[in-house]
Amino acid sequence: MIVALDHIAIAVPDFDRAIKRFMEDFGLPYKGSEDVEAAKTSTAFFPLPETSIELVHPLRGEGPIAGYLEKKGGGLHHLCFRSDDIEADVAHLKAKGYQFLSEAPTIGAHNCKVIFIHPKSCDGVLIELNQPQDEHH
Ligand code: CO
Repeated sequence: MIVALDHIAIAVPDFDRAIKRFMEDFGLPYKGSEDVEAAKTSTAFFPLPETSIELVHPLRGEGPIAGYLEKKGGGLHHLCFRSDDIEADVAHLKAKGYQFLSEAPTIGAHNCKVIFIHPKSCDGVLIELNQPQDEHH
């Protein structure tokens, strides 16, 4: 079941400048950045009540965001819906004919389980589903 719009991601060509813009010009709370090796992407999060703005930038100039920036120069990259049972939601959507960019969820930013629905299945919009994993203390 989808439980929240977890974040909105913007692909940015200059990571540091964009972080400064959101932090200093817009005054958003900066939660820090994280390199997601598996996705070859640097991420920076600015949580707002009930959602976050996510900046995404190529990690070491590589990965899917590099291709996106080359083609579009920057822009709104994806919407992310938070799920409380990502495997069940993926199975449900696959049964309805939705295509995904990977077979199963992988680990993304904040150690969440993540999977992307192919934009072809959603009128050209890239949609991510995520599920925070329990943290063991
Ligand atoms: Co995301």
